[in-house]
Amino acid sequence: MEFSIKSGSPEKQRTACVVVGVFEPRKLSVPGEIIDKAADGYLADILRRGDMEGKTGTSLLLHDVRGILADRVLLVGLGKEKDFREKEYRDAIAAAVRTLNETGAFEAAIYLTELPVRKRDTRWRVRQATLAAFDTLYRFDQLKSKKEEVRRPLRKLTFFVERRGELPGAEEALAQGEAIAAGIALAKDLGNLPGNYCTPAHLAEQALELGRSLPLKVSVLERADMQELGMGSLLSVAAGSHQPPKFIVMEYQGEGATTSPIVLVGKGITFDTGGISIKPSGDMDEMKFDMCGAASVIGTMKSVATMGLPMALVGIVPTTENMPGGGATKPGDVVTSMSGQTIEVLNTDAEGRLILCDALTYAERFDPECVIDIATLTGACVVALGQVASGLLANDDALARELLEAGQSAYDRAWQLPLWDDYQDLLKSNFADMANIGGRYAGTITAACFLSRYTKKYKWAHLDIAGTAWRSGDKKGATGRPVPMLLHFLLERCGRL
Ligand code: BES
Ligand code: MN
Ligand code: ZN
Repeated sequence: MEFSIKSGSPEKQRTACVVVGVFEPRKLSVPGEIIDKAADGYLADILRRGDMEGKTGTSLLLHDVRGILADRVLLVGLGKEKDFREKEYRDAIAAAVRTLNETGAFEAAIYLTELPVRKRDTRWRVRQATLAAFDTLYRFDQLKSKKEEVRRPLRKLTFFVERRGELPGAEEALAQGEAIAAGIALAKDLGNLPGNYCTPAHLAEQALELGRSLPLKVSVLERADMQELGMGSLLSVAAGSHQPPKFIVMEYQGEGATTSPIVLVGKGITFDTGGISIKPSGDMDEMKFDMCGAASVIGTMKSVATMGLPMALVGIVPTTENMPGGGATKPGDVVTSMSGQTIEVLNTDAEGRLILCDALTYAERFDPECVIDIATLTGACVVALGQVASGLLANDDALARELLEAGQSAYDRAWQLPLWDDYQDLLKSNFADMANIGGRYAGTITAACFLSRYTKKYKWAHLDIAGTAWRSGDKKGATGRPVPMLLHFLLERCGRL
């Protein structure tokens, strides 16, 4: 799909379709009124007859509207004007793109980007419109032998802004939206790809591939390298698998970067059976998504390198399967992490923290500005926050606030949980420095407490995306979250939001 930005009056656009909004009940948005005027009150007539109430999710396609140059007008319901916020805005764009896709129009002039959204500027509206459009058009059909025929003549979308003076900012926001969308799409593709395709070696190959086309330095450590570094915790998770583990490091050094790098660490369990502490079989297929943290790191690196942001960024992805087997780690085994701290593995299904802790220790060598790890870490997080908010825990309040704010602005939100010392006691072990589980209560917090023992030397935040990285049920699939949040955080850090 080709996207562009324009400014100008809706009745004067020579295009296959003009898209304007209608508020409930039956109230035209400003561009709608302009078209109505040019068409001698035709739109108002239609609303009066009750064919379009303006409810969210509804739309109405009109042909041959007189007095204007476009072939069609698409009316999109926006809901009540006083309730029109970020979500309603995104839903309206999504509804428009979905409907346009089913018409014969090959291009469209979208005026929804002129709608006021409280507290949000034109750049935000253009960026979000781009993301919502890509999200709607996303398909994962790599593994279908017969691709579903999408009759898609739609080739070009133009977003309109009110004033010519807004064009340069809007153009930049569009480019950002496209770069972020590319990162999200990559994260979704990797997440959706099943475990027999998406192995640690596949993730490594994808990262190396990015390094060939973008300014990214990518290196992959093998099992022997990890042994040499003393990553006994990570390797204990890989022990039951026939797939060799990989440790992926992606480095981006943007021009004009002045600080040491921000480091992102992503959990890359390409399939989580639970290991010897094996999971129940119901819905176990969803554990192919246990590398969505890794996917979000790789996707974010792609977006940042595509935009050429003036910053230093490192992506670290420890990746392995978690399988039972003759060589697998057993409950009660004690392993030694790269930090030197020993861990009693009481539950082999709490494997995410075991691979992350060594990656977090490895991150020290970059003298990071801050470190953010992203992981589908705990079922407890899904119980606490559902599929709406990611869990956020941090050892630095300013960093936590920045991420919460970025989540709000990206409409990819997180909610902070406490990381108080009182919870640390739950990780006591009789046989090692710590246990890898903390018992029945506060599972998301005790998992973060475990990680906090490896992040003492820098500012650190942890995002638990177990509930947000994918959807279950008939819309099962990866969401690409929290790539939008991370990109908004990074854009804000270099003053580009
Ligand atoms: N990958 C899972 C977490 C998970 C579970 C994500 C369900 C999404 C849905 C993680 O490795 C895990 O198994 N965690 C255990 C930890 C427990 C053994 C302390 C969990 O949450 O049950
Ligand atoms: Mn697990
Ligand atoms: Zn897991």
